[in-house]
Amino acid sequence: MAGVQNHRLAAAVCQAGALGSLPAAMLGPDALHAELIALQALTDRPFNVNFFCHAPPTPDAARQQAWQHALAPYYREQGLDPETISKGPGRVPFSAEAADVLEAFRPAVVSFHFGLPSPELLARVKSWGSLVLSSATTVNEALWLQAHGADAIIAQGLEAGGHRGMFLTDDITTQVGTLALLPQIVQAVQVPVIAAGGIASAAGVAAAKALGAAAVQIGTAYLCSHEATTSALHRSALQSNAAQHTALTNLFTGRPARGIVNRVMRELGAMCAQAPAFPLATADMAPLRAAAEAQGCSDFTPLWAGQNASRCQAAAAADITRDFLSAWRAA
Ligand SMILES: Cc1cc2nc3c(=O)[nH]c(=O)nc-3n(C[C@H](O)[C@H](O)[C@H](O)COP(=O)(O)O)c2cc1C
Repeated sequence: MAGVQNHRLAAAVCQAGALGSLPAAMLGPDALHAELIALQALTDRPFNVNFFCHAPPTPDAARQQAWQHALAPYYREQGLDPETISKGPGRVPFSAEAADVLEAFRPAVVSFHFGLPSPELLARVKSWGSLVLSSATTVNEALWLQAHGADAIIAQGLEAGGHRGMFLTDDITTQVGTLALLPQIVQAVQVPVIAAGGIASAAGVAAAKALGAAAVQIGTAYLCSHEATTSALHRSALQSNAAQHTALTNLFTGRPARGIVNRVMRELGAMCAQAPAFPLATADMAPLRAAAEAQGCSDFTPLWAGQNASRCQAAAAADITRDFLSAWRAA
């Protein structure tokens, strides 16, 4: 989960007996190397490293201007001058440079969001013996991933927190819940299917297994774990009634992602036509976020969360993991 965790959460999950994931979408090569070294120092169990693999967009000047116009009142309110402030960090797709770093570590599993990398890069990853996973949000995406070399497919239901992994369509009317998506993907493909989205209890784990899942992928339930780097503002939103109100929004990055509804989502509309293509929307929102957060305010913060935040309590990741593992074994 990029932005809310590092090697510590991944290692704790691995040590408890599940497959922990290191998010690499916001790491340059040096930071990725440092995180992998730190992860290996904490666990000798298999782990997953996750990358985004979107095609970098061509900037669209008119859309950028419309976006800055939409945000201008907030810049004025916060006393920020758009000409003089530095913009936020972006998200970079999996690259040859990242593969150079990864090669020395040969992770047991490498997962991708937004499709798969180029055939050459994918072949490199597979040549190390890494198992390749990627998210599908429709049956068509699952069939595409299977045909293009994914070893297992994550069926990401609409309940899931964070970015939708959608990559063959940007039409959000195609996005369905886990209960609808999972059995359809299980029926359509031959590779193992991992259920994701809204799973936060033993009953949820059992339901996914009954519907044919070979494993479950859990995000939101770890957001308040001791090992996550989730901010205090984000943690308090997750543990409040606000967490009952989530929506898909493209305001923070340009791609639809599920988060807790906050002021900017209410005022601009969660899905906004002016938001630049992923990941360009991030840059102009970041200064507003930083200024508001400095005053303890989450009006411009992406409060990523799935629809089921019922498990968001402060706890050790090992305890959360062991509960889910025993639920899986008992189901
Ligand atoms: C805060 C947050 C950040 C996420 N970041 C990533 C990411 O970097 N890469 C990715 O493949 N999925 C990411 N996801 C999606 C998860 O992999 C997974 O699909 C989702 O958490 C499962 O649904 P749940 O949140 O209801 O458990 C993120 C989810 C959350 C909540």
